[in-house]
Parts: sequence; C-alpha cells; structure tokens
Amino acid sequence: MKFFIDTANLSQIKEANDLGILDGVTTNPSLMAKEGIKGNDAVIQHYKTICEMVNGDISAEVISTDFAGIIEEGKKLAAIHKNIVVKVPMIKEGIKAIKWFTDNGIKTNCTLIFSAGQAILAAKAGATYVSPFIGRIDDSSWDGVQLIEQIANIYAVQGFKTEILAASIRNALHIVKCAEAGADVCTCPLDSILGLLKHPLTDIGLAKFLEDAKKFA
Ligand code: G3P
Repeated sequence: MKFFIDTANLSQIKEANDLGILDGVTTNPSLMAKEGIKGNDAVIQHYKTICEMVNGDISAEVISTDFAGIIEEGKKLAAIHKNIVVKVPMIKEGIKAIKWFTDNGIKTNCTLIFSAGQAILAAKAGATYVSPFIGRIDDSSWDGVQLIEQIANIYAVQGFKTEILAASIRNALHIVKCAEAGADVCTCPLDSILGLLKHPLTDIGLAKFLEDAKKFA
C-alpha cells in the first residue's frame, strides 16, 4: 500500500517525506484555503513547490463543475508538472471529464466517493484513482472501511485497473484497516502516519534497554 499525505502544509509534507516512506500528496480546496493560498499564481506556485519536494503523484483539485471548465482547469494543472494528478469530483460532468483526461493521457483522481456504484462509474471512465472518504462515512454512522473492502472486491472481480485511494483518514487504525481491506493507497494526515509509530510497550521496552545499557557503557 502506498502512503500519501493529505495536506497542503509544506512543513508537514517535508516531515512525512523525511521519513522516507512518502509516495505522494493529495490536496483539496479546503486544505489549500487552510494554508492561506490565494490567487491563481500562488496556487500554481504551491503545487510546483510540492512537486519539487515529493517524488510521487500529487493530486490537484479542479473547482469547476462543468465539462469545459474542468477540462480547461485540468489541462492547466497537468501542465504544472508530470506528477500532477487532476482531482475531479464525482459528478456527471466530472465523469465525462475523467474519460476525456484518460483518453488524453492525463492522470485523474475521482474524489468524493461514498458508494460502490460511484467507484464503478469512475473506474469505467478510466480514473487513475478513486477516493472513498472513509472518515466522513464513519462520521455519518456507516462503515467506511467496509466500502474500501467492497470496492476492492468489485475491482478484483471485474479487473478494473483504477487504484483505491482511501481518503478522509482519521487515525492510525484507519490506515491498518484500509491496508487489510485492500486499499492501494492511503492518504493520511501527518498525525495518523505518526500514530503508526506508537505503542506503549515500545516506549517501556526502549526505556529499559537504555537503562540497562548504562550498566555496560
Ligand atoms: O482530501 C480528501 C479527504 O481526505 C478529506 O478528508 O478529513 O476533510 O474528511 P476530511
């Protein structure tokens, strides 16, 4: 399973990248706004900076919702860097645009996926990635991880090549469950990635080793 970081924050991207385990980055308009990035030039420069920092796929989301607008915006985003993946919402115009991008060799990430039916449609259009939002599904009292499992089964049975990019991750357990359920990628906040490091017995064990090491140092 590949690890992406789900943020537009450069210091968090650097911290995750420095671990040596980062395979890519996902952003969305909310994450870009959170960093105070304003204006087209600043947005493009920010994506450029991220692409130069991380050697992997970088999802950049369109904000148009009509076919022509999505195509125009997506072409501009894709021109920033070879690793840009155009992130397109799961709407009718979005599906048409994903098919167009697929036919024109531009990678896509179909976002805001909340059902297996949506994931089938995105795969039929040739999306490189689908992004089921598992945390938001859990928030609405359904089972987000179960959706990952269902999509993984369908894609395996049908031979779809689209990669499942588990998104809206809330904690380290989500990452473990997504790995079990067959996600190809997990895009996570930095805290959830760092949460994977933690176990109290590791801390206790290390303290004891360091204490004992003093006896022979
Ligand atoms: O990037 C899409 C997704 O990961 C958003 O997560 O936490 O806003 O539900 P969240």
